[in-house]
Amino acid sequence: MNWIRDLRYVRLGASDLDRSVRFATEILGLELVQRDQNRAYLRAGHGQHHHICYVKSDVGQVFAHESLGFEAPSAAELDGVIASLDRSGLRIREASSGERDERRVSALYTLTDPTGNGLELFHTLAPDGPCTFGRDAGITSFSHVGLRTTDPKRDERFWTAELGAKVSDWIGDAALLRIDEVHHKIALFPSKRPGVQHVNFQVGAIDDVMRSYYWLKEKGIRIVFGPGRHPTSSAVFLYFEGPDDIVYEYSNGVRLITDESYQPRQFPFEPQSFCMWGSRPDIPEFRTGAAAEPILQAG
Ligand SMILES: [Fe+2]
Repeated sequence: MNWIRDLRYVRLGASDLDRSVRFATEILGLELVQRDQNRAYLRAGHGQHHHICYVKSDVGQVFAHESLGFEAPSAAELDGVIASLDRSGLRIREASSGERDERRVSALYTLTDPTGNGLELFHTLAPDGPCTFGRDAGITSFSHVGLRTTDPKRDERFWTAELGAKVSDWIGDAALLRIDEVHHKIALFPSKRPGVQHVNFQVGAIDDVMRSYYWLKEKGIRIVFGPGRHPTSSAVFLYFEGPDDIVYEYSNGVRLITDESYQPRQFPFEPQSFCMWGSRPDIPEFRTGAAAEPILQAG
């Protein structure tokens, strides 16, 4: 059963809130919806209040504010998943009305995955009107998040058995997980620590990916992978680095899986499984296997 409808938002720590907002609006291209001294809300399209919330953090405490927000299809289904998680012995906390209001959601529960990544389950995120992008990067949606896992098989079981995600493909032990038709909304990359590993936005065309590649280079933004094409999802991609070492990704053309009989494929943990064009990642989790030992050299 699909307990969760979609990944709706990501909360990220920001050691310098002004710098993160500048990056998100002027470089990434999002719309600043609202901010105060401690938080900034940004959108990657119309329809909902925000997709990213940056939370002001001390340096070294950025991870403590990270979490992913998943919407349940209804209040009843949210109650169902919470009861099921409770029966599995997971520690779940019902959020306060202040926390709900701050996120613009109705019911809200928080928990962590077995690695310690923060998760939030809710229903009904406040809708919102048209979006005015910070720059024309061609963004069409907030789409997926890469998460670090300290035990990929254990966490894959958690995501599939407890939250109803499905494995679309594996690269080594890294599972690419879908919660709707999109090839992946969550990807679990072996690491020695928890944390958000990258944040993805879909763009409207391959031209948008390439336009941003030259534009970001000109702005001195560190490109860490691509342009390239993932053989797993078929998406054309570009990864680049933002404040607090958060990696952002634009991609276009992600595969949709509509065939019920689809079987996940096993790709080896090697550079060609991340990019079929030959680009080499400068991203630690794409360069190390389950043993977390370096196996690839920068190309
Ligand atoms: Fe990605």
